[in-house]
Amino acid sequence: MAKSDENAYPAIADPRSLRSVAAAAKDCRACDLWSRATQTVFGEGPRTATAVFVGEQPGDKEDLAGHPFVGPAGRVLDEALAEAGIDRRRVFVTNAVKHFKWRANGKRRLHERPNGAEIAACRMWLELELQLVKPDIVVVLGATAAQALLGPAFRVTRQRGQLVTSSLAPRVVATVHPSSILRAPDESRDAEMRAFVRDLRIVAKLIG
Ligand code: URA
Repeated sequence: MAKSDENAYPAIADPRSLRSVAAAAKDCRACDLWSRATQTVFGEGPRTATAVFVGEQPGDKEDLAGHPFVGPAGRVLDEALAEAGIDRRRVFVTNAVKHFKWRANGKRRLHERPNGAEIAACRMWLELELQLVKPDIVVVLGATAAQALLGPAFRVTRQRGQLVTSSLAPRVVATVHPSSILRAPDESRDAEMRAFVRDLRIVAKLIG
């Protein structure tokens, strides 16, 4: 795996424009993940959004579609947002890493967790998204994003649903990743979903 390379960040025609930043991110070569991914999956949502949701990285479906959270985890997120009274069309949804990292298992592409160097290489894009959207609230989804953004000591299991101090935004909350609900055993899946919705209701109140 090649090291991150400053020169591998493409020039951004207009750094004040989200569209322009997203266009530049398409050609990012700051780590090697681009070479096995279909495309960069940049964040999506209105620039006026008061809340930004940050997941880990696009999955198989997102990689093919070019949009964040449109696969199975996205459906769980959509359902939980709707139950919590949050309109997905009014929030900005993105990931800590913008390319799909995977390994082959027969014909299937299985998710692989991005490493620290890959997350660090992608950090600039997330920073730009946050600088331009300027959310009041950042919602961090899952342990990988939480540990990358809130520090290695952060434990989603213990600190979920609580406001945490961070330079990411005035208010920051972490919760589980929606894919953890898909992976939960049948007997606890409903309870996991209810707990996820409970956390998102806290976010809904903060959004106001
Ligand atoms: N998981 C994520 O973290 N992000 C996506 O966009 C899809 C699945």
